[in-house]
Amino acid sequence: VALPELDTETWKQLAESALEQRLRAHAPYSGFRVGAALLTADGQIITGCNVENASYGLTLCAERVAIASAVAAGQRRFRALAIAAETSPPPRPCGACLQVIAEFCSEDFPLVLVNGAGERERYRLADLLPHAFRLKTLE
Ligand code: THU
Repeated sequence: VALPELDTETWKQLAESALEQRLRAHAPYSGFRVGAALLTADGQIITGCNVENASYGLTLCAERVAIASAVAAGQRRFRALAIAAETSPPPRPCGACLQVIAEFCSEDFPLVLVNGAGERERYRLADLLPHAFRLKTLE
C-alpha cells in the first residue's frame, strides 16, 4: 500500500534528525561522519550513524545501523529516509546500504540526501539502485 507523499515540515524534521545524528558517528579513521534518519509508517523517527572499527572492514554504515535499529524495535514499514554528511554534493548511500534498504522498501521509496550547508537532493530508491536484487516482488 502506497503511503502519501511527506509534507515539507516532515522532510525538514527528518533532515534535521539525520544532521544531528551524524554528530554521534564513531569515525576516528575516516573522519567522515554520516547520519541517517528513517521515518516509520507510524510516524516515528529512528536514527543511525556510522560506527567504524580499528579493523576497518568491520565498519557499519549509518543507513544500515538505522535499518537494523528499526527492525530490532519492531519497525519494518518505512516512509522515507534522510542521510546527512558534510560533503558537497550530499552523501549518496553506498551500494551495500542500497541493497539493505531495498530489502524493506519499494522502488519509489523517497530519500533525501543533505549536508550542513543546506544542500538537498531528492531521489527514489530506484534512481539510486535500479534493478535491485529481489527474491520476490514487493507488494
Ligand atoms: N559510510 C556510511 O555511513 N554510509 C554510506 O552509505 C557510505 C559510507 C561511512 C562508512 C565509513 O565510516 C565512512 O562513511 C567513510 O567511508
